[in-house]
Amino acid sequence: MTKKNKESDKSNYLDILAAGLVHEIKNPLNAISVNLQLINEDLQTNTSNVGQNMFNRVQLLQKEVFRLQDILSDFLRFAKKHELDFEKCNINEIIENVLDFVTPEALQSSIRILKNYDSHLPTCYLDCNVMKQALLNVILNAQQSMSEGGELTVRTFKNKKYICIDISDTGYGIPPDKIDKIFQVYYSTKKTGTGLGLPTAKRIIEDHNGTISVHSEVGIGSRFLIQIPFNPGTKNKKK
Ligand SMILES: Nc1ncnc2c1ncn2[C@@H]1O[C@H](COP(=O)(O)OP(=O)(O)OP(=O)(O)O)[C@@H](O)[C@H]1O
Ligand SMILES: [Mg+2]
Repeated sequence: MTKKNKESDKSNYLDILAAGLVHEIKNPLNAISVNLQLINEDLQTNTSNVGQNMFNRVQLLQKEVFRLQDILSDFLRFAKKHELDFEKCNINEIIENVLDFVTPEALQSSIRILKNYDSHLPTCYLDCNVMKQALLNVILNAQQSMSEGGELTVRTFKNKKYICIDISDTGYGIPPDKIDKIFQVYYSTKKTGTGLGLPTAKRIIEDHNGTISVHSEVGIGSRFLIQIPFNPGTKNKKK
């Protein structure tokens, strides 16, 4: 067995072990969650001071349990090995779909969404659902960086054998000494961030033989450039 095979076996084993551990934690956590909900309902009718204090504490515990559940779900999504299901896709349509999803919240935060699509992009083969997840993660970050409003610009264009997606924001930007960290697992500067959004996006894009790069200036904004080859794979390709 080569050294590379051994290492990949070890990493597969750790993936399975980690995913198993997460499942083991999820079940008791769900039981805690359900029971906290029941206690909460009982306490709702208790108007005494003690009852109200307990109610507040239970709510705090529930919030933390929800956060743990979110962390575990994100981890499972990240750790899951994806068998990509390539099909003919229109990248502009995929982006429209993602933008439809984020628009209500963007409007609430006074974010203007500007679109500039190349309508002559060649057909490409992607796993649409998985790619949607990657784009959503990048777009959500852009949105979260502009809590006081700004502009989100999404542009598509062709460059040689690649379809390019440029996602730019006018948000708070990323300091130069942090830029190398943003694709690292669990790196997050947000209060409730898991730090799995960008590593997941990067992995999905690389699974399509693509690349993601970033350029950012503090106080000016960030630009993520995603490049995906027209025909990233032939496995499982649907007509
Ligand atoms: N568009 C952006 N503008 C400014 N900072 C960004 C942007 N995108 C990513 N970052 C920085 O990179 C970090 C990692 O991003 P990532 O999406 O992986 O995790 P997260 O957003 O913190 O949490 P989550 O797992 O919920 O996505 C962010 O916490 C933030 O500091
Ligand atoms: Mg994120």
